[in-house]
Amino acid sequence: MDRETLFDCTGLVVVITGGGTGLGLCMARSLAINGATVYILGRRLSKLEEAVGSCSSIQPPGEVIPLECDVTSKPSLEAAASKIGEKTGFVNLVIANAGVPGPSNRALLPRPADDPRGPLAIQEVQQHLWETSIDDFTEVFKINVTGALYTAVAFLDLLDKGNVRRNVKQSSQVIITSSIGGFHRSWTQASLAYTTSKAAVNHLVKSLASFLVQWKIRVNGLAPGLFTSEMMQAVFGKDRDLTAEGALPVEMQPLRRAGRDEEMAGTILYLASQAGAYCSALYDTKSLEWATLPPHPSAARRFLKVRLGHMCICNRDSRVSGCSVSL
Ligand SMILES: NC(=O)c1ccc[n+]([C@@H]2O[C@H](COP(=O)([O-])OP(=O)(O)OC[C@H]3O[C@@H](n4cnc5c(N)ncnc54)[C@H](OP(=O)(O)O)[C@@H]3O)[C@@H](O)[C@H]2O)c1
Repeated sequence: MDRETLFDCTGLVVVITGGGTGLGLCMARSLAINGATVYILGRRLSKLEEAVGSCSSIQPPGEVIPLECDVTSKPSLEAAASKIGEKTGFVNLVIANAGVPGPSNRALLPRPADDPRGPLAIQEVQQHLWETSIDDFTEVFKINVTGALYTAVAFLDLLDKGNVRRNVKQSSQVIITSSIGGFHRSWTQASLAYTTSKAAVNHLVKSLASFLVQWKIRVNGLAPGLFTSEMMQAVFGKDRDLTAEGALPVEMQPLRRAGRDEEMAGTILYLASQAGAYCSALYDTKSLEWATLPPHPSAARRFLKVRLGHMCICNRDSRVSGCSVSL
């Protein structure tokens, strides 16, 4: 039960889409530092190679390997699975993490009382929403939802082979990166395409977990709060350190800052290693509580029901601050 054994990832073969940047790269690094062989997939080979360069201090058996792949293309996913299969013969963990933010709806945030334009008129709302093309809206679903599903499907045979091989104690697993945006209705999320795609991801986790239970391929969801990445830099700019204490207002993030690398690393090491081997159809949410639960812990307990064995978070119409959890 010592921490080295409990969180050890030696021997794990892991595939991470969107592994060349942001959260995916953070996960890849922490898994490889702890012994895993990690294939990082993305469309831009240059970014993937840059990412591998940033992992040069990682010691064997840990390794990070780049592989070009577009999660919206079946031939591309098939080629990636085939290349990895030829090298390893099996996979233990697939992290469907690739994602895009989608068209912003920040223009629809409520205006301050002293805004000379006055309150938003319904015609402005209509015009703003109409301006986004159906293709642009749908593209977000194509990558965030359909891409996550097809990523999982492309690796099912190799995940099954991981279970047969039993090179590690924990059974094979798919983790899909969702977002707190998929749980609450706050305008602070400000992209309808993104938040609705992540809500769809949440249901995908549950559905896939049910489909695959017979083959002991576990499916879990990871719903991060705000972490700095290319995606977030597009919203907040590159110059601010969002991880500094007090960098963000409390109504945006309960801890008043963005998440740090070690906090994501700890989460993924838990889920990937023996420590998280009993997680199935679980959501690990980061900084969700403020948006969804009453602040008092005793009240929160009434809303949060955690069943061990097949862990999930259940709701009881927990409508708080205009938000709800519905799993
Ligand atoms: N950062 C946050 O605060 C936050 C919060 C909640 C959830 N998330 C989720 O975390 C995940 C990672 O996002 P991030 O914040 O780390 O942003 P990021 O740095 O922009 O990462 C997104 C990654 O997805 C890859 N990608 C996009 N489309 C792809 C496609 N069609 N095929 C393959 N790869 C593709 C990108 O690489 P290429 O462009 O090279 O393909 C990139 O590496 C996303 O699912 C995001 O929704 C992030």
